[in-house]
Amino acid sequence: MQTELSKKLGVEHAIFGFTPFPAVAAAISRAGGFGVLGAVRYTAPDDLKRDLDWIEGHVEGMPYGLDVVMPAKKVEGVTEADVEAMIPQGHRQFIRDTLAKYGVPELAEGEASGWRITGWMEQVARTQLDVAFDYPIKLLANALGSPPADVVERAHDRGVLVAALAGSARHAVKHKEGGIDIVVAQGYEAGGHTGEIASMVLTPEVVEAVDPLPVLAAGGIGSGQQVAAALSLGAQGVWLGSIWLTTTEAELPSPRLIQKLLAAGSGDTVRSRALTGKPARQLRTEWTDAWDDTNGPGTLPMPLQGLLVADAVSRIQKYEVEPLLGTPVGQIVGRMNSERSVQAVFDDLTRGFERAVDRINRIAGRSGQ
Ligand SMILES: Cc1cc2nc3c(=O)[nH]c(=O)nc-3n(C[C@H](O)[C@H](O)[C@H](O)COP(=O)(O)O)c2cc1C
Repeated sequence: MQTELSKKLGVEHAIFGFTPFPAVAAAISRAGGFGVLGAVRYTAPDDLKRDLDWIEGHVEGMPYGLDVVMPAKKVEGVTEADVEAMIPQGHRQFIRDTLAKYGVPELAEGEASGWRITGWMEQVARTQLDVAFDYPIKLLANALGSPPADVVERAHDRGVLVAALAGSARHAVKHKEGGIDIVVAQGYEAGGHTGEIASMVLTPEVVEAVDPLPVLAAGGIGSGQQVAAALSLGAQGVWLGSIWLTTTEAELPSPRLIQKLLAAGSGDTVRSRALTGKPARQLRTEWTDAWDDTNGPGTLPMPLQGLLVADAVSRIQKYEVEPLLGTPVGQIVGRMNSERSVQAVFDDLTRGFERAVDRINRIAGRSGQ
């Protein structure tokens, strides 16, 4: 499964995998794809260094990349404490009441929430880059579009390609103007922050809008047939996020959460502002329902919502409070029905791709070619 882009990056398959877990990223690259480590949770540079060292030791010389969440616009001098002070008391009370209703215990004294907003702040993302540029990463992706010009330049000086996620052709064109090399066109079906346009419509729109830049199709891809469909729409590869969550190499914090993912159908996700303040696709739970209920206080804008719910989300995960337990995941969760190794997922993707190509060849009257 070779495209111009996969050849340029020296990978066997044009399958890119976003993951917050180093072991998954390394396994994707070893399997012949391109592993991309999500950096947003690394607020301490030493933690990122430790995990990049680990990847280097386990990637067997195959290429890999890093994904940051870097805002294009700078917000000067705003600290987490300033943001915290903007949260209304009524919202805090709503959280206390909701957690009390489900009997969610407190975190232990001094136990920090595992999930903070600081990874979304430009200065933190820049610290992550200072660490990452000491490693032979081949790709830098940004969840929030084109990174600032000096970051693009720094990446290019090191021979690192820059990718940016886009949920519309308009955004994709803006990213292209920002000097990036690859657009990840992410459809409505995708896990995490999503726009409103489905992959089937979005992929060809973005391909045409940014031509000749290479486009990776993201959102709703979990089988080789879907990979073939994305490549037919003009993408030079696919970018998968959800499918890796239930691989044996993933380190999800809760066994119950894994069971929920394995049991979920494609209709069990919701695009909700409950997690970050921006629409993000995730498992639908009684927690997202509470936030999306018109009788509730409603969500706050990013970054307030993320800060507001950080401790609550950590408590729900730590104590595995079933009805509230969720995670960002896309509609493809309906196909995630067993725990498999990354290599097994890859074998399934490549075999399914070959079957799809054979089928289309037969339909086109080219059997045997
Ligand atoms: C658990 C999870 C966390 C994600 N976090 C990020 C992130 O930090 N940065 C980013 O660029 N994309 C993030 N995404 C989106 C993925 O990069 C990818 O575009 C998306 O998962 C593709 O659609 P799929 O979920 O249908 O495979 C996340 C997705 C998931 C499922």
